Amino acid sequence: MTNYVDFYRRSIEEPNEFWAEQARLIDWQTPPTQVLDDSRPPFVRWFAGGRTNLCHNAIDRHLATRGDQTALIAVSTETCSERIYTFAQLHAEVQRMAAALLAIGVGKGDRVLIYMPMIAEAVITMLACARIGAIHCVVFGGFASGSLASRIEDATPKVIVSADAGSRGGKVLAYKPLLDEAIRLAAHKPGAVLLFDRGLAPMALVEGRDHLASVVLERHAGADVPCEWLDATDVSYTIYTSGTTGKPKGVQRDTGGYAVALAASMKHIFDGRPGETYFCTSDIGWVVGHCYIVYGPLIAGMASIVYEGLPTQGLDGQPNGAIWWELVEKYKVTVMFSAPTAVRVLKKQDPALLRKHDLSTLRALFLAGEPLDEPTASWISEGLGVPIIDNYWQTESGWPIITIANGVEKKASKFGSPGVPMYGFKVMIVHETTGEELTAPGEKGVVVIDGPTPPGFMQTVWGDDARYVSTYWQTVPGRSVYSTFDWGIRDADGYYYILGRTDDVINVAGHRLGTREIEESISGHAGVAEVAVVGVADGLKGQVAMAFAVPRNSAVLTEADQALVLEGEIMKRVADELGALARPARVRFVGVLPKTRSGKLLRRAIQAVCEGRDPGDLTTLDDPATLQQIRSVVGSASAN
Ligand code: PRX
Repeated sequence: MTNYVDFYRRSIEEPNEFWAEQARLIDWQTPPTQVLDDSRPPFVRWFAGGRTNLCHNAIDRHLATRGDQTALIAVSTETCSERIYTFAQLHAEVQRMAAALLAIGVGKGDRVLIYMPMIAEAVITMLACARIGAIHCVVFGGFASGSLASRIEDATPKVIVSADAGSRGGKVLAYKPLLDEAIRLAAHKPGAVLLFDRGLAPMALVEGRDHLASVVLERHAGADVPCEWLDATDVSYTIYTSGTTGKPKGVQRDTGGYAVALAASMKHIFDGRPGETYFCTSDIGWVVGHCYIVYGPLIAGMASIVYEGLPTQGLDGQPNGAIWWELVEKYKVTVMFSAPTAVRVLKKQDPALLRKHDLSTLRALFLAGEPLDEPTASWISEGLGVPIIDNYWQTESGWPIITIANGVEKKASKFGSPGVPMYGFKVMIVHETTGEELTAPGEKGVVVIDGPTPPGFMQTVWGDDARYVSTYWQTVPGRSVYSTFDWGIRDADGYYYILGRTDDVINVAGHRLGTREIEESISGHAGVAEVAVVGVADGLKGQVAMAFAVPRNSAVLTEADQALVLEGEIMKRVADELGALARPARVRFVGVLPKTRSGKLLRRAIQAVCEGRDPGDLTTLDDPATLQQIRSVVGSASAN
């Protein structure tokens, strides 16, 4: 077995040779002529001259050797159903969907926005887009019309694919009214909308625009749609993520680099082998779902489980805290991927549930998306008896930045640390204001990545190269490095520890949300003059949003019933516009917000007060009485 230190060093010192080798893990119609082109930093082109296709690598390539093996297992504890597709069946379904998209005018480079629940058809639609070279833009089904509208405007999709509804914990969430409202709000209108009808919620079809997918697909049964060979640098998809401004960023990814990065990660990090089953509990609306529900496992020739439902409900619709373990046993899952929040939910269940099923096939559980706390890690590690592997990354990176590459060399995890930098990633810790590299163990700074960024990393912000450069590459003084916007430290053994965001992004149950988007939604309420939203530590969800608003009517500050009404209206507004995840846990009313003398909101100080911490340096605070107001509303809340 290779030594990881050498493996890593080679990836950094000889990137051309290193990645040329990794590129052999996938199929190319035309092999690349140049491995790395970083002649225009920070933009990087990987595998120029090469032609390939993600769908070919995920499906067609396996047909000869494993056509009859399982590729997709769609489980819903909401509709109490299980559907299994072999690679050959998935091939047929994807071609049918590809033919349907072509027939309604979708071509190479056109955007297809996918707003769907966790059903097989969502995965099939993504693969169908990849097959014909259309760019998919999947929007998380938990987002509401405002968030969806801004993404429709930015992506300008030719077609939107959606469904009547999703369901969570038995509660049906109708998608169609949210979609109709989003299309009404957006300046861009799609040419057509394809709708899967699950029979969960009534749908009113808009004449001339909306089509029932079942009707369209029927016309294309048995279709034969070959893969469109794409340049390695052609765009495969965009996925929206939140940042410091209210406007979401479309993270744009290539084709060849992404395929190679995923294939390599399946081998070196996840150690997932062909013919086995991978179970990732994320959602296709997030980057983890794109990489490790859809493309990664299929590229590796594995079966992938697509799961709709809570981790605590069984296939009969009854409470069952062992459902995930039941699936591990039933489908002989070898690799599992989830988020710390989900484990914290399971931790509330009877620990005996972990011993109810035969979990002997499972080799490792990967957790990502938010900090993994020690009690959660220890509990699940003892319960499962397999390595628990924390992995740190971002929508932007496309695959883990920091973890343990057990497929290269077995290495011990340290609780609290995701591990060490992955091959291809030149990770550094730098001083926030001087930009100086901090090399001493334990020094806290910003986690940054020095270019060239590896394959799979975002190419740019969709439609806005300048924004890519200014947002990510020009925030560290004196250096052009990519900022992750996370605080971190490194210990004497080279293990990194991630200490939370440096910007206004919060992490609710592993979901990344921008506080600015929430603030914009709240300030749209006529009764609100000004608002600050911060993320506050929460035992179950990691963080929750907390809002502090200045009401236009000062009676709200003294009349508890008026405050309650306004709080309720604000919460509903955020849930309707952005989705339930973004709804603040509480809205507190104050006469004025703490700001610097130049008028900048002091969110960090507000957050510290909410968490009962020392707010730190307050020299820039304009008026100390403002922070006192926050203290008193937070204090009176905890006294209630
Ligand atoms: O703050 C870090 C946190 O989640 C952010 C990225 O979120 P997202 O773009 O949704 O991508 C998630 C991909 C796994 C990071 O900037 N984060 C992610 N993983 C970890 C983490 N924080 C601590 N530990 C992790 N393992």
